[in-house]
Amino acid sequence: MDVTKKAARYQRVTQQLSELLLKTNHLPSRMATINAVLHHKMDGFFWTGFYLLHDCKLLVGPYQGSLACQELAQNKGVCWAAINQKKAVVVPNVHDFPGHIACDGRSQSEICIPVYNKTGHVIAVLDIDSSQLNNFDDVDAQALTEIVKLLAI
Ligand code: SME
Repeated sequence: MDVTKKAARYQRVTQQLSELLLKTNHLPSRMATINAVLHHKMDGFFWTGFYLLHDCKLLVGPYQGSLACQELAQNKGVCWAAINQKKAVVVPNVHDFPGHIACDGRSQSEICIPVYNKTGHVIAVLDIDSSQLNNFDDVDAQALTEIVKLLAI
């Protein structure tokens, strides 16, 4: 998708989410709402979901898409890289990412964003896979980083 069009779509989606998330403080409900809106409004989102940090483990949380790995081996793959680097990680081709964890062989590119609570502790990651190569860029990284801030309540 053209970057200007994508940025404008993220702006509308972020506005919609900020209104929808006024309805509850329940974290799984808020995560599920974010997934549903992103998965159906953004182009090329093949798997959209959260992994929750629990006892130093990343366990699958609310998601949309095909069956996912339930637990991600520690300090391996894209999701752990986002946690360890404390920033969005954009992977244009998952086959080039050392240690990438393939939950569905159709995934070709990926973006992962750490999620913080209001005291600044990492609680989860938002992970999005695409079946197209090079589906994610800085526009996605910036917009999704803003969207996950809606969970810091
Ligand atoms: N590919 C991720 C694992 C989760 S799936 O993409 C749903 C990773 O390498 O951490």
